[in-house]
Amino acid sequence: MLNIKDITVKFGGLKALENLSFTIQKNTIHSLIGPNGAGKTTLFNVITRIIKPNKGNILFNNESLLNLKSNEIIYKGITRTFQNLQLFNYMNVYENILSGYVHTFNKNSFNDKKLKLKAYDVILEISELLQIKNRLFSYPYQLSYGILKRVEIARAIVSKPSLILFDEPAAGLNNQETSEILSILNLLKSKGKTILLVEHDMSLVMKVSDEITVINFGKKIAEGAPNEISLNEEVINVYLGGGKNVKKNIRNK
Ligand SMILES: Nc1ncnc2c1ncn2[C@@H]1O[C@H](COP(=O)(O)OP(=O)(O)O)[C@@H](O)[C@H]1O
Ligand SMILES: [Mg+2]
Repeated sequence: MLNIKDITVKFGGLKALENLSFTIQKNTIHSLIGPNGAGKTTLFNVITRIIKPNKGNILFNNESLLNLKSNEIIYKGITRTFQNLQLFNYMNVYENILSGYVHTFNKNSFNDKKLKLKAYDVILEISELLQIKNRLFSYPYQLSYGILKRVEIARAIVSKPSLILFDEPAAGLNNQETSEILSILNLLKSKGKTILLVEHDMSLVMKVSDEITVINFGKKIAEGAPNEISLNEEVINVYLGGGKNVKKNIRNK
């Protein structure tokens, strides 16, 4: 479904990504992991056309995304969440989710009354799914981090995308909230979505992923199913810094 082909991104002298290639199959949860600074968010920014790669191509259903502008990606059915929440603080939850809907179908968005009416049912459906229905008229500052994360997910899925990019959805969450994220990811997959997941919580990654790609300093170092990755010596050494305890941890999860 998504073909990342030989992507290189340079920031001055630094190669944030170097000849990175991998393929995400339809209706799978594909995780991208690696230490801080490995280039994960940079790849999201390449896919969503915020950053132009120096080299390579990104094919979505065999069509190059590099011909599109950043605001056109959503029309193809690709949305994302952000590592640092990027909700609109002056809008309530309902309006935040609405923004994910109207921008998809009409650029002049908030004045389109018909569209807003149409959005109503979808927003109720999505907020029910994410259990934030009773928060629709709260403002972001009134809500816990766990709920804000779900609002961001609601905004990302309200336009019914086929591919969703999640940038650290469990970062900063407690165990209970993290297991809710796990259920949401599985639920989305059961509804036919394809997911690219960047996440540091190895327990979550190991449980939820169909396929894992590991990068370090912008280069791919391993790829495979969770059980293969957890046994990969290079992943254990490079990504987790080695050591017996680390090995034990990653294998037990
Ligand atoms: N806009 C930018 N300008 C310069 N350097 C950047 C920029 N964005 C990221 N980098 C650098 O590129 C590398 C990869 O960053 P990033 O993709 O954010 O890593 P990750 O998400 O895996 O932690 C880091 O060394 C980071 O400092
Ligand atoms: Mg990042």
